[in-house]
Parts: sequence; C-alpha cells; structure tokens
Amino acid sequence: MLNRLSTILRGGLAAFILALALAAAPEAARAQGSVNPTAQSVKEQQLLDALKPGAAITGRVTIPNAQAASLIQPGRDWRAFNQETLPRIGAVALLGMLALLVGFYMLRGRIRIDAGASTMRILRFGSVERVTHWLTATSFLVLALTGINVTFGKTILAPVMGPEAFAAWAGFAKLTHNFVGFAFMLGVVLTFLVWIKDNIPDSTDLGWFAAGGGLLGKGHPPAKRFNGGQKIVFWSVVVGGFFLALSGWHLLFPTQEGIADVQWHATIHGTVAYLMMALILGHIYIGSVGMEGAFDAMGSGEVDLNWAKEHHSLWVEQEMARKGTPAIIGSAQPAE
Ligand code: HEM
Repeated sequence: MLNRLSTILRGGLAAFILALALAAAPEAARAQGSVNPTAQSVKEQQLLDALKPGAAITGRVTIPNAQAASLIQPGRDWRAFNQETLPRIGAVALLGMLALLVGFYMLRGRIRIDAGASTMRILRFGSVERVTHWLTATSFLVLALTGINVTFGKTILAPVMGPEAFAAWAGFAKLTHNFVGFAFMLGVVLTFLVWIKDNIPDSTDLGWFAAGGGLLGKGHPPAKRFNGGQKIVFWSVVVGGFFLALSGWHLLFPTQEGIADVQWHATIHGTVAYLMMALILGHIYIGSVGMEGAFDAMGSGEVDLNWAKEHHSLWVEQEMARKGTPAIIGSAQPAE
C-alpha cells in the first residue's frame, strides 16, 4: 500500500515537473534566439505613424540613392499644398488683381495727360533698355502662361481639349517653360544692371506715396526717372526673379538632397510666381490701357513732353539741365 502511494506520488511529481518544463519552454527558446516569425514584422500602427510629418521608416540600401532607404517618401503636405493651396493662391491673386483693375478703371477711367498732348517728345528709354524690357516681359509672359497650365490646365483645359490634345499641349508647354526660364534669368540680370541706378529709394518716394501716387486725386506728385510705385515693380522683378530663378534651377536640376528639397523649392516657385503675376498684371494695365501716353516709353522710346512733365517732373528738369533743348525732339505725333 505504502509502495503504491509512493509510486503515485513520484509519478505526480514527475508530471508536475514536466508540465512546468513545457510551460517554460517558449521563454527559454526565445531567450536562446530561435526564430519567431512575427516578432520583427512591422505593425500597422507603425506604418500609420510613419506617415506623420517628420517620421519615416528607414532601412539600409547599397545603391547611390540614399533616399531609397526610406520606405515612404514625404509628400502628403506638399501634395495638399500643390493641389489645393497653390491653386487658391493663384486664383485669388490673379482674379483679385483683375477685379481691382476693373474696379479702378470704372472709378477713375483712363489717366489722361492733364495738359493735353504736346507737340514735343522726349527720349525716355534707349534701345538697350527697351530690348532688356521686352526680353524680360515676353519671357515672363510665356513662363506665366505655361506655368498657369501646370496648375490649372488639367482642371480647366483638359475637359475642353480632350486627354490626347491636352497631353500634347502640356508636354510642349512644360518643355517651353524649362527653356524660356533661361531667357527670363538673363532678362532679370540685365534689368538689374540697366536700372539699378534709377531705383535707389529716396525721400522723393515718400512724398510720392504720401500723395497716393497721384492716382486717386488731382495733380501729380514730383518724381525722378522712376516713381515710388515703379521702384516697387523694379525690386519685385529683381528679388522675385532671383527667387524664381533659384527655385526653378533646383527643379530643373534636382540635387542629391532628395525629394523634400524639390518640394520645398516647388512651393517657393509657385507662390512667388503667382504674387509676381498679380503685380505684373497691374503693371501691364498702367503701362497700356490705364494711362494715356505711357506705352510709348517702351514702344518708340519717346514720350510726350507734357506726359513726362506730369509723371516725372524732376527727371525732365534733370534731363533739360543735362542735355539742354537738344534732348527734346520736336514732333506733332499724338501721344497714344
Ligand atoms: C507685356 C506687357 C507689358 C507692358 C505693356 C509694359 C509696359 C511698360 C512701360 C510702358 C514701362 C515704362 C514706364 C515709364 O515710362 O515710366 C515699363 C517699365 C517696366 N517694366 Fe514693363 N510692361 C510689360 C510687361 C512687363 C513684365 C512682364 C515685366 C517683368 C516681369 C516688366 C517689367 C518692367 C520694369 C521693371 C519696368 C521699370 C519700372 C516700371 O516702370 O515699373 N514689364 N513697362
């Protein structure tokens, strides 16, 4: 009896030890480094976290493109900017400026030469200045139209033209944009060199701004060769043009810095471009339909003497003192 009891007890003890050993086995196996197929796998939450700004899942690559080590490239913020914010900036800037100009035209009408057209004309811009202006202007206009196509073409033109015609046009427009960019860069550099001497801000500009540029009331505040408003246009073209060129260069020739760098430059490029387009719309208005006699300055280069006296009185005095009457060219042409 005692013998049977001791056999049962020994058997129970052995079974208990075996059960304990089996329960501890996976821990021991893991501790020894045996394979657990799910232990290293990426959890879904990790992937979702990696989509957050600044986060990334990175590994190791042996190819030269180090960026390829990132499993998910950054892009959501930029895509939202490019597809939603930039079109909004563009539409508000361009349509807002158009509305302002239409409103101004209805309120003020065309700015006339108060004293009427004279029979005398004065040389305002020589051929180097006019070639510089038109090089910058035509290249900017081509870049503006082909650039607008990148932002709005797919939404506005593609449904009208059909997918094939739009693809052909968009390809041509993009190629044109890439090449004409160099002409614009040259134009901006020449603009800077040719006109910097006339665009240093001074106290005359303060008086000009205080009088609202003479746009709203009667009479004309004194101005040198360029008034305060024109100096703003000049510096916007030079500084804006510099940033357009710099960011455009990064888009044409991306560096090893990766995709985030390209996205950052595309953001600057688009934003500066639409702000400049809005400003230039205002400039084109005042240089053509908005002001009688203004276009001649960039057309033939000679302007009506009365126009010059009204809009750039100090410059006319300076020119008369410098050159005397020979600077004045007698002519009976109307100043349109
Ligand atoms: C395409 C239509 C354009 C027209 C009709 C036009 C007309 C004119 C005129 C008449 C002037 C001389 C103003 C004066 O005598 O005081 C001028 C000056 C100037 N233009 Fe244009 N322009 C055009 C486009 C552009 C563009 C696209 C740019 C640059 C992106 C530009 C940049 C300038 C600059 C920097 C000046 C000197 C500063 C100023 O007068 O505001 N222009 N333009």
